[in-house]
Amino acid sequence: NRKMGIIGAMSEEVELLHRHVEVTQKHEKAGLTLYEGTLHGRDVVYGKSGVGKVNAAVCTQFMIDLGAGGICFTGVAGALDPELEIGDLVISSSCVQHDMDASPLGFARGEVPFQEVSDYAADGTLVELARQTGERLFPGRCLVGKVLSGDQFIASRESVQMLREEMGGACVEMEGAALAQVCWMNGTPFVVIRSMSDKADGSAQVNFETFTQEAADRSYRFVSALVEAL
Ligand code: ADE
Repeated sequence: NRKMGIIGAMSEEVELLHRHVEVTQKHEKAGLTLYEGTLHGRDVVYGKSGVGKVNAAVCTQFMIDLGAGGICFTGVAGALDPELEIGDLVISSSCVQHDMDASPLGFARGEVPFQEVSDYAADGTLVELARQTGERLFPGRCLVGKVLSGDQFIASRESVQMLREEMGGACVEMEGAALAQVCWMNGTPFVVIRSMSDKADGSAQVNFETFTQEAADRSYRFVSALVEAL
């Protein structure tokens, strides 16, 4: 019964966790608060990281230090794959930092210089379990694909085209690859679950504001069912 970690970046993404987890302990460090308790009878530790890669990285390490044996991210993202509609879900096959760019030195976009791995693979067992859970909960509205992360809110067709064509992303957000890199550094299994709040194009800002709550709730339902299926 390894302890499962769950991270969301924004209040909307952890709100339902606050409502459903039976909390037994609270931990504070570096301005972050993590809660331990049970969800569907399983030990969990969860909390809000804040937005962006640095916040996600610090929160992930904090969670691993508290004994999380696996980590799942829950939240919203901008769709890059044209098959994806708002509300649809992406399960990470892997995560890449799209804003890591040392291309003047001859490194590929997304490649962390002098590091063996820059495309961090999600845990195969968690991905497979998530795929089955997604097929059951949201039939035909889930896909497994590459999650791209960067400290930028993407809101233009040109950016979508580059992230899709050059980097092969299914969706774009601002935390997953940071969590993934920290998990890779620690040998901790992870999976990122994201529900689409927008299409990262010219209407991204308006759609994000309109659909984030609903998308975040769908992501929670997914992660809750995933924890139940573990
Ligand atoms: N999260 C949700 N939508 C996003 C977007 N368009 N860009 C970056 N992160 C997001």
